[in-house]
Amino acid sequence: MCIRPAIRSEAPYRFRAEPAGIKLDQNESPFDLTEPLKSRIFERLSKIPFNRYPEIHAQGLRRKIARHFEWPEDGIVVAGGSNVLVQSLVITAGLGQKVLTVTPTFPVYAMQARLLDAQLIELPLTTGFELPVAALERELSSGRGVLFLANPAAPTGNLHRRTDLLSLIEAAATDWLVVIDEAYCQFAASDYLEVVRQHRHVVSLRTFSKAFGLGGVRLGFALTTPDVAENVQKVMMPFAVSSLQQAVGEVMLDEIEAVTEVVEQISSERARLWKALSRLENITVFPSETNFLLIKVPDPARVHRELLDRGVLIRRQDHLPGLQGCVRVTIGSIEENALFLSAFQEVVMKQDRYDE
Ligand SMILES: Cc1ncc(COP(=O)(O)O)c(C=O)c1O
Repeated sequence: MCIRPAIRSEAPYRFRAEPAGIKLDQNESPFDLTEPLKSRIFERLSKIPFNRYPEIHAQGLRRKIARHFEWPEDGIVVAGGSNVLVQSLVITAGLGQKVLTVTPTFPVYAMQARLLDAQLIELPLTTGFELPVAALERELSSGRGVLFLANPAAPTGNLHRRTDLLSLIEAAATDWLVVIDEAYCQFAASDYLEVVRQHRHVVSLRTFSKAFGLGGVRLGFALTTPDVAENVQKVMMPFAVSSLQQAVGEVMLDEIEAVTEVVEQISSERARLWKALSRLENITVFPSETNFLLIKVPDPARVHRELLDRGVLIRRQDHLPGLQGCVRVTIGSIEENALFLSAFQEVVMKQDRYDE
């Protein structure tokens, strides 16, 4: 058979859906849209002619994004999820060249590099999850390609030092595209838009799946220069974002106060949960600027399983380099967090007893 070896040897994307009452495994928003907001969306959808193709490059949604971010419309690319843009960016700047990133990080950067046979270079974060700046700069000094960095970082949850990112952006200026994946930036109340504005080789990758609460709709976008956007757009399929997706994104951008409220609630719940977890013995909860917490526990497989027995689903991360013993929990609603916390305490205290 003619399946390319790079595809044959790649393991399928690691995700198993598990039914659970309290779902804290995918860094989603715990809140569905309100009924009035959904009604507004349905009304809008009912006016769409389903027999017609959508706008080829989501122009209406791009206009709204442009207005919201004060960004030039022709510097925006919209896709059915930001992970689609990761693939397009690898095709645009990594294929036949290099894809540089760190470990652990969002696995789709490396996965797409491997599938597309780009030369993949992964450098480990320091033990404090900081960027290995000198090693990255060494890589940036030869060859060309695309550098992917999630900031706030995932799954570690920290914000990287601004000075580190700025020196990497400078080191990449001649031959590299730098993609700052800002999927979680609303929860950090900081972003790189001004930096992207000042450089012609930097992209800010955004998603509607987290703070906007539209994980099921599949929408993401890139903010960059018109030149980069035009080239990334070439590798995207024409008419790739349906008129339904475009319309939902447009309505959401008119309802930005609802998003701000959710972000505030998640951020304050994160602080509360972090404080409660940091008092527990035998575990380490890492600082987070995202909508999830990374926690090191003595036995992640047992913690995951016993939480699931109690109806709480979290995500194991202990298979990732540098994350031995780690699990990740999404910040849920107040009620979900309370149930998670009491179940987690029970499970971890049981661990204490085993250890005695
Ligand atoms: C860092 C990071 N980037 C991108 C994504 C994917 O976002 P989307 O749902 O827009 O494909 C995720 C999803 O978890 C993520 O953690």
